[in-house]
Amino acid sequence: MAALLFSVVALFLWHQPSTVAGRCGLTDQGSTLQVLHVNSPCSPFRPKTLSWENSVLQMQADDKTRLQYLSSLVAGRSIVPIASGRAVTQNPTYIVRLNIGTPSQQLLVALDTSNDAAWIPCTGCIGCSSSTFDPAKSSTFKPLRCGSPQCSQVPNSRCGGPSCEFNTTYGSSTISAGLVQDNITLATDSVGGYTFGCVQKTSGSSFPAQGLLGLGRGPLSLMSQSTSLYQSTFSYCLPGYNSTNFAGSLRLGPHSQPKRIKTTQLLRNPRRSSLYYVDLVAIRVGARIVDIPPSAFAFDPNTGAGTVFDSGTVFTILVKPAYVAVRDELRRRMRGAAVSSLGGFDTCYNVAISVPTITFMFSGMNVTLPQDNFLIRSSAGSTSCLAMAAAPEGSVNSALNVIASFQQQNHRILIDGPNSKLGVAREACT
Ligand SMILES: *[C@@H]1O[C@H](CO)[C@@H](O)[C@H](O)[C@H]1NC(C)=O
Ligand SMILES: *[C@@H]1O[C@H](CO)[C@@H](O)[C@H](O)[C@H]1NC(C)=O
Ligand SMILES: *[C@@H]1O[C@H](CO)[C@@H](O)[C@H](O)[C@H]1NC(C)=O
Ligand SMILES: *[C@@H]1O[C@H](CO)[C@@H](O)[C@H](O)[C@H]1NC(C)=O
Repeated sequence: MAALLFSVVALFLWHQPSTVAGRCGLTDQGSTLQVLHVNSPCSPFRPKTLSWENSVLQMQADDKTRLQYLSSLVAGRSIVPIASGRAVTQNPTYIVRLNIGTPSQQLLVALDTSNDAAWIPCTGCIGCSSSTFDPAKSSTFKPLRCGSPQCSQVPNSRCGGPSCEFNTTYGSSTISAGLVQDNITLATDSVGGYTFGCVQKTSGSSFPAQGLLGLGRGPLSLMSQSTSLYQSTFSYCLPGYNSTNFAGSLRLGPHSQPKRIKTTQLLRNPRRSSLYYVDLVAIRVGARIVDIPPSAFAFDPNTGAGTVFDSGTVFTILVKPAYVAVRDELRRRMRGAAVSSLGGFDTCYNVAISVPTITFMFSGMNVTLPQDNFLIRSSAGSTSCLAMAAAPEGSVNSALNVIASFQQQNHRILIDGPNSKLGVAREACT
């Protein structure tokens, strides 16, 4: 197993510094932000010592914590942290530049489409990274009073003197923050009086040390706070894992969005208001629709069951009967070739995979994925694994399907808030 060298990280390490400098200097323009993989050569958060194989295993371990987090978003449920026993790196895998305050201070923050609020590490924060936002240096900064309406929108809020403070969990991390406002700039757009959490203390391993920008659907999300500017519309394209370019994009607002794009209806779950639920109805492996009971996909606002798009989970998670049906069909098509496993991946081969595509069939939209979106390949090219996993059984997480970032890479994902639609189109954004 130690001989499996996965291309995911291989290319990060082989990248040539000369081309990096030029790319990393690219500036964000208009309403479009560059999106970088957290391990990209341009990223200061790139882990330095992880072996390739360990990096894959790490991403799987992070996914477990992530699923726990997504499940915790059912209002009022408190979560039990998962002890992984190892140092865990970042959970969200993509980062963008965010400018905060006057004059503006630039931070590279993690993108999270399943979290509402932005949580920014502030000066003096215990457990954050060294790059923090210094409120004292911003003339437009102000803490929110504890009686402010926003204060009732954050979990476990209380008055810390006159200002609003709150504690929350994020995966296995706990966060203590003050609720504050300042002007922010995204690419060249300004959003005045943006409300976010100024993080004072964090512990545990899930919270990205550099902070995060929430693109979820709830009241404190960037989209909800900038409706006049962006009309609850954005799209993103996540760069491929084996790309050497690493620059995807986040486009904010209705302008310059793809006109012709397949869409499916977004579903709203009042108990998990941040999440982008969709109606997954079937899965095709090659040309065959596999046999999955409809209950595996059923949307249930009370339990949180259903299917979500999430950019913070790396590998798609399917509820057990759906995963087993997909996996068994792929194995059947391999006609008895020797199957092996790697960590949580139970379907790996040392020969070419004979399934050319897997199609997620949503209500009104089929998304056909090429092999690059469902096989993770070793750098030597000799081993390929089905890059999906089964949801753990018998837990609160067992009913949630998550369409994750590996499956989204090199696709443009459009969130059209006013029409409550999610669109998907192939796009080589590497
Ligand atoms: C948040 O947690 C800290 C300990 O980290 C504790 O001192 C504080 O009272 C908590 N605040 C709230 C609002 O629960
Ligand atoms: C900050 O935002 C407020 C509220 O939108 C606005 O009135 C003010 O002009 C902005 N200040 C700067 C320096 O951009
Ligand atoms: C990844 O590499 C394979 C060849 O190993 C290539 O065919 C494919 O286009 C690459 N995918 C991306 C997203 O760059
Ligand atoms: C999706 O593909 C199936 C065939 O597998 C087809 O019957 C259906 O009409 C397609 N749906 C859309 C929206 O194109």
